[in-house]
Amino acid sequence: MAKYTIMGHPLLQHKITLLRDKNTGTNEFRKLVEEIAMLMAYEALRDLPIEMVEIETPIEECLAPVIAGKKLAVVPILRAGLGMVSGITALVPTAKVGHIGIYRDPETHAPHDYYCKLPDQLEDRTIVIVDPMLATGGSAVDAINYVKQQGGKNIKFMCIIAAPEGLQRLLDEHPDVQVYVGQLDRELNDNAYICPGLGDAGDRIFGTK
Ligand code: PRP
Ligand code: URA
Repeated sequence: MAKYTIMGHPLLQHKITLLRDKNTGTNEFRKLVEEIAMLMAYEALRDLPIEMVEIETPIEECLAPVIAGKKLAVVPILRAGLGMVSGITALVPTAKVGHIGIYRDPETHAPHDYYCKLPDQLEDRTIVIVDPMLATGGSAVDAINYVKQQGGKNIKFMCIIAAPEGLQRLLDEHPDVQVYVGQLDRELNDNAYICPGLGDAGDRIFGTK
């Protein structure tokens, strides 16, 4: 069975609509990406393992649940994935953050890696790779290849908007990765931009052109 989830929560749908609007400026766009990432992470992390620890309330001692073992690694794909990190670390402040730098060639749309720094002991961590856009799927597939080469096993991928082409490629090449999608759009255009999409996510987050 394909391991992907299209998020349906009304709050998320509403915020993605605001994000798509071309009149949404950089400041609001950044805030929305952060909030959407937080809402998505709340759902995507529902299977984090927990363990019981002894604590003392003002009333009595008790056993209470905490997140167990080696914790989370959040890995944004630069640049645009950076915008999603603070929303997730707001929920899990102890998460380690790795970075993978990939840009798409403007002509061929093929991904090019330019930077990578990941937390240690990847094999023991839940790793959440984040990028707002899944278009051809090239960047996501490359990033996951690299994380696996470095020992990552329990990998999730979270994107705000996906094209059917990119989602299918990701599921075909990494069937073991759990994929979380905010909304699934219609198609890619001739420039491999998602339609209707939201334009260039990196440019809209960082105010560049
Ligand atoms: C965008 C986006 C993804 C990638 C998706 O990054 O943030 O990383 O394109 O496209 P794909 O699925 O076809 O690979 P971009 O290459 O524009 O780099 P940037 O974030 O530095 O602007
Ligand atoms: N990258 C983006 O930022 N937007 C798209 O629509 C496709 C790739």
